[in-house]
Amino acid sequence: MTVIESVAEMREFIAQVRQQGKKVGFVPTMGALHEGHLALMEEAKSSSDTVVASIFVNPTQFGPNEDYDAYPRTWKSDIDACQKIGVDVVFRPHVADMYPQGWGTWVSVDNITEKLCGQTRPGHFRGVATVVTKLFNIVQPDRAFFGQKDAQQVVVLMKMVRDLNMNVEIIMVPIVRDPDGLAKSSRNIYLTPEQRTAALVLSRSLLSAQQMVIQGQRGCRLICSEVQDKIAEEPLAAVEYVQMYSFPDLQEITTVRDKVLLAVAVRFGTTRLIDNMILEVKE
Ligand code: PAF
Repeated sequence: MTVIESVAEMREFIAQVRQQGKKVGFVPTMGALHEGHLALMEEAKSSSDTVVASIFVNPTQFGPNEDYDAYPRTWKSDIDACQKIGVDVVFRPHVADMYPQGWGTWVSVDNITEKLCGQTRPGHFRGVATVVTKLFNIVQPDRAFFGQKDAQQVVVLMKMVRDLNMNVEIIMVPIVRDPDGLAKSSRNIYLTPEQRTAALVLSRSLLSAQQMVIQGQRGCRLICSEVQDKIAEEPLAAVEYVQMYSFPDLQEITTVRDKVLLAVAVRFGTTRLIDNMILEVKE
């Protein structure tokens, strides 16, 4: 496995790979790797000749009061995990190389970035779209792999790729959960044991919403309020949102039809967790 730290070197490497006609699969990450990331890497391996994973804690997607400085940086175990799973190249750029002095160009996706996480994290998706565009320009992947846990991020990036005619296919990989249902997240390590137990209410409430739909309930408002009430029964949980939108276009809906995203954001102390489920009705 090769580790590359400079943008120029990464470009050179990719030029050689492309000359050999190889398909490049790309897994952008911010490190603190867990089984969710490893699933993306496995998926990339199964459909690419060369797998590149990036590890870059991107400052432009964190708000001024968010956890950029405290974001877990676990370089040693990350590199071991990449090696073990069979990643070919780890790209680990420096902030000054990605955002050199005088840098000032943003990529901003309209409308769908203003709902869900965009309501409480203004500027977050602009930072994500910008860094992913830069990474795509450097790595030039054929396919890029993202987790469903950040479903809104996937939708935003799919729209960006379509709107800007980028020559890369975005692949969404299902959420990976702990055996007790907690969705894997780099932020789970912040949870106290009590908060972690409390956080199981997220997957429980999503499953109960799924059950409601299976039993014929189609009203989005009712489903969301049941989920909200269930989460609110947990004293350590503070709900930020429980919302439903059509998927993947994230339009307002009142009834469950075709594919629907049910997404939640909940704080446990200072730790903000998100989770979701895509519900499908074929009728
Ligand atoms: O999902 C993430 O880890 C980040 O938002 C991403 C896509 C690597 C961009 O920094």
